Amino acid sequence: MLKELEAIHADALSAITEIADTEGLEAFRISYLGRKGRLTLAAAGMKDIAKEDKPAAGKALNEVRDAISAAISEKGNLLQSEADAREADNVDITLPGRPMPRGSRHPISQILDQAVATLRRMGFALASGPEIETEWHCFDALNTPPDHPARNESDTFYFEDGRLLRTHTSTVQIRTMETTPPPVRVIAPGAAFRRDEIDATHLSNFNQLEGLYVDEEVSLADLKGTLEYLLRSIFGEKTPVRFRPHFFPFTEPSFEIDIMLEAQGKKSKWIEIAGCGMVDPDVFNAVSKSRADSAYCPEKVSGFAFGLGLERLAMILWGIADIRLLIENDVRFLRQFP
Ligand code: PHE
Repeated sequence: MLKELEAIHADALSAITEIADTEGLEAFRISYLGRKGRLTLAAAGMKDIAKEDKPAAGKALNEVRDAISAAISEKGNLLQSEADAREADNVDITLPGRPMPRGSRHPISQILDQAVATLRRMGFALASGPEIETEWHCFDALNTPPDHPARNESDTFYFEDGRLLRTHTSTVQIRTMETTPPPVRVIAPGAAFRRDEIDATHLSNFNQLEGLYVDEEVSLADLKGTLEYLLRSIFGEKTPVRFRPHFFPFTEPSFEIDIMLEAQGKKSKWIEIAGCGMVDPDVFNAVSKSRADSAYCPEKVSGFAFGLGLERLAMILWGIADIRLLIENDVRFLRQFP
């Protein structure tokens, strides 16, 4: 028996070197390990072996079976890698690759990135605040009286508990000053919500960029310089910018900013683009009450604030006629902003 096993072992190891393909390997496996294979038949002879020789014979049988199985799987791997190599030889590596489709940034993100990059160079840090706000942060602290039309149920989304979806990002002015002593120089991009009828120029959920700068002796000249620089970085260096007196409850004096643009061949005209002004002393007083200190005493500090709508900016910059295109995610539209 042991002699026979040795012969099977030797035959198998030499036969396997001759095999050239996977079919041949399978035939080999069957001829040794299959139901009628040589090793299987030899194993059947176990029953005729003297009892005391059985352990040695069984051990040898297992060793030969393991060796043949290992040789088979090694040969299988070898055949596979040879096949892979042949396959690779057939690949024409000089063919051009298939281009991977690449997405692009949404126009709102593009304009936001640009505005944020410019303002950060001027020392503004990013700030944020919640979209669900208290009436105090959205209106009272911003010097907006209870009977102001913006506070109307028909203009603002209220929750039953009295909180609301912020109608502007100016809430972040208050939140920043509550937690940070002056000087502060922050920008806060984010969502704002109004109960507007949705049409070509209105969404009920849109994006604003708020800015706030408070320090000792911040002046209107700082406000003008900062915003002129920002707007010219977006719309072009020579863009005329004008500050038109306006009213906001939380700034005094207040302005709307217009830029002069030639809209595609048409006559240039002034287009309103942002709101801004010097922080109203009453806003500082509200913040001082909330902080219970005098860090923002209006006798000591001054500041400016501004807010602009990002959708509006994008529409003007790219001549987008309908604001709804910006939220429909139609790739035929988005592909135009690579
Ligand atoms: N919050 C104002 C708006 O939504 C814009 C603004 C911000 C005006 C800061 C002045 C100062 O219209």
